[in-house]
Amino acid sequence: MAMALCCLIKSFRIMQSGSHALRYSWPTKIRTSLYKKLIGLVRLYYNRVWGMHIAEGARISLTAKLDKTYPDGLHIGTYSAVTFRSSVMTHDFVNGVHLQTRIGAYCFIGAGALIMPGVTVGDHCIVGAGSVVLRDVPPHSLVFGNPARVMEKGIMTGEFGRRLRNAEATPVAHGSDSVPITDAALSGAAS
Ligand SMILES: CC(C)(COP(=O)(O)OP(=O)(O)OC[C@H]1O[C@@H](n2cnc3c(N)ncnc32)[C@H](O)[C@@H]1OP(=O)(O)O)[C@@H](O)C(=O)NCCC(=O)NCCS
Repeated sequence: MAMALCCLIKSFRIMQSGSHALRYSWPTKIRTSLYKKLIGLVRLYYNRVWGMHIAEGARISLTAKLDKTYPDGLHIGTYSAVTFRSSVMTHDFVNGVHLQTRIGAYCFIGAGALIMPGVTVGDHCIVGAGSVVLRDVPPHSLVFGNPARVMEKGIMTGEFGRRLRNAEATPVAHGSDSVPITDAALSGAAS
């Protein structure tokens, strides 16, 4: 029975991978629709049970890690997405501090990214997968790497940090010439 089900799922996936019209497979569609129903409850759970500050419309992956040691320090803006296996930290055991960590509105936090305690990520930012964000991120920035650096300024994002391409963006050279996230970068940020 299980074998037959697996074969059926496989054959559907093969059929769908050959079609350019379909972007998502049906298991993905089912999963997404269930997740959309769950997402409000997830937000309520973090806010009501733990006392975090997650704005309406924000999406938190079930595998994301939100710091429960100092939940009052955790702020996530409206229509931001914190994707799978990313972590948002509000305390540092080593230095014995509890800090306010803020993610603005319309941000995207990529898979496995680490947002360190005390960091503020401005509105309309994209944090690349696997990034380690040690410093504040100016609004409208694309950052990635370890440590995360501003790779592009003046970007525009929509719901859940999806990039909107029609906005004018200022590319910054990748690699060693990239701009570290500093106070100067902050003051030069697009608003
Ligand atoms: C950060 C990101 C948005 C950049 O996308 P992009 O602008 O299309 O960038 P590109 O893929 O053209 O890559 C440009 C350069 O940056 C590097 N780069 C891209 N993303 C990177 C990341 N997360 N970490 C380190 N380097 C990265 C690429 O290797 C490339 O380097 P090169 O120019 O030396 O070859 C994207 O890579 C990313 O991380 N998306 C999130 C994916 C994710 O988390 N998905 C799961 C949840 S939906």
